[in-house]
Amino acid sequence: MCGIIGYIGVEEKATNMIMEGLSKLEYRGYDSAGIAIFTPSGICVEKTKGKLVNLADHLAQIGFPQGYAGIGHTRWATHGEPSDVNAHPHWSQDHSVVVVHNGIIENYAQLREELIAAGDTFLSDTDTEIIPHIIARYYREDKDPVQAISRAIQRMRGSYALGIMFADRPGELYAARKDSPLIVGLGQNENYIASDIPAVLAHTRDVYLLEDYDIAILNTEEIRIVDLEGNPVHREIFHVTWDVASAEKGGFPHFMLKEIHEQPHVVRETLASRLQENMDAPKMDDLGISKEVLDGLERIYMVACGTAYHAAMVGKYLIERVARLSTIVETASEFRYRDPIIDEKTLVIVVSQSGETADTLAALRMSKQAGAKVLGIVNVVGSSISREADYVFYTWAGPEIAVASTKAYSCQLAAMYLLTAHFALLRGKMTPQEFHDLKGDLIGLPAKIGEILKKEEEIKAIVDSVDPLNVFYVGRGLDYYTGMEGSLKLKEIAYLHSEAYAAGELKHGPIAMIEPGTLVIGIVTQKSLIEKTVSNLKEVKARGAQVLCITTEDADLALIQSVADQMITIPDCNWMFTSLLANIPQQLLAYYMSVKKGYDVDKPRNLAKSVTVE
Ligand code: G6P
Repeated sequence: MCGIIGYIGVEEKATNMIMEGLSKLEYRGYDSAGIAIFTPSGICVEKTKGKLVNLADHLAQIGFPQGYAGIGHTRWATHGEPSDVNAHPHWSQDHSVVVVHNGIIENYAQLREELIAAGDTFLSDTDTEIIPHIIARYYREDKDPVQAISRAIQRMRGSYALGIMFADRPGELYAARKDSPLIVGLGQNENYIASDIPAVLAHTRDVYLLEDYDIAILNTEEIRIVDLEGNPVHREIFHVTWDVASAEKGGFPHFMLKEIHEQPHVVRETLASRLQENMDAPKMDDLGISKEVLDGLERIYMVACGTAYHAAMVGKYLIERVARLSTIVETASEFRYRDPIIDEKTLVIVVSQSGETADTLAALRMSKQAGAKVLGIVNVVGSSISREADYVFYTWAGPEIAVASTKAYSCQLAAMYLLTAHFALLRGKMTPQEFHDLKGDLIGLPAKIGEILKKEEEIKAIVDSVDPLNVFYVGRGLDYYTGMEGSLKLKEIAYLHSEAYAAGELKHGPIAMIEPGTLVIGIVTQKSLIEKTVSNLKEVKARGAQVLCITTEDADLALIQSVADQMITIPDCNWMFTSLLANIPQQLLAYYMSVKKGYDVDKPRNLAKSVTVE
């Protein structure tokens, strides 16, 4: 989720070009930044914690040279907190190779141990630092940069976009990628590497979009692209027609829509951080929750605000139903003031995208003081909650720019699925076979998100066809919690009055509100509860409401059609995952409703992305 830029040209202006490119990429991450430049006396590297302006000030202060070629990086921390030393670029042990990296190397710990055993020492806590170390080792053996990069890539599992410089090859830059975007820009006597098009758009509109396992070699005159065997690969030049502003959003009109579309990728990253195909259990040994710890607990709280609270509701439901552990969920602003029972036999799980929400942070501090262990499910590395929690489960959603949270919620749910499996396995409530099946379903989840995203036009058409005065989201079980998140999204960005209700509660009051002009969105994914929810929907339809149902493709569609004016289907899936999948259409419904009303989707009125006051 960080930003990469590389420049090589015939004029001595590489530092300026790289700093300018980084400024276009800062929205991708801004907790630290760094630059490496070829100079006549070798490669110079400088990096600083904090926003790009810190790096710019530092370079000005030390009189950093311009150079003809170099690479730069703006970081959004994953492994290792934001700091000067963890910032990119990273050197090899012998200072022969410098690398900037986006993505996550999943087997870095194992590779690092191997390198340490062979005599290497590491300066940072990053996964990235192993990359220049490995490349340099192979480069010493082969003296062939492409072969060294290729051999290194074949050792690494995970995702990466790489910008690479070899100290003894000042006329060349190298780039490689897998599962993380990287482009190469074509200029006049100059060429570029970038993680995103906006970084180069002021200088060229002609780019190659590298594909997985491509290695690009750039000098001032040409760009060569080869495969892992070194064979030339032909890629078409892509001519960019967007303007800079829209390109920063990857061609999407709003960050929110871009972030909605990032969900297959970021959910995959979150799952892959703790689950591989060959595993018999998710990798959770850093969370301090062994069988003994679980057995010794008297209570579990989940504490959060807003969208993160809705993810916690889903987590509670699953942990209770699958792992048979009683769990209490509470909004942080209530929890902190009601003197809850907290002691050493309490586990408090705080959930927060930003890791900075004031009430959630206060709940964490209060819980620690009372002797509880705190596990943080957090998206921002180095945030207050990530630093103060006893244990951290990072979601890898990347920077979420739109105020309305979308991809962070999906990653929080992915974390809940893994946590549920972990607890259930430890407590003997899930058999190895059940875990094996669940693992297969989890690995298939990103593709199913992708299938739902293909229904965007269908969902937009539904939005165009309705003009509700108010909206109710109703469901039972997990579907109720899914509706809570759908309702929040609609309020946040479309300023439409909406409420989520447990379907069975409708007739205890809210049904008095139902009249023509009310839209009721029924979330109907839990097979054993479909008939009951459909009955409740019939009651509102009889009173003039318009009914839209979100259900699974394998449900009794005839039954649902008997009540639904409109229907959106999601792929069949494990019952546990419907809150993630059924929420994707809800996100798109809210998004298109906001667009239709002409509101500022990414910066809705009265709201803030991170609420650092009570
Ligand atoms: C604000 C944001 C919401 C978010 C909530 C909790 O209200 O607008 O989108 O869900 O804070 O934020 P956190 O960063 O703790 O998840």
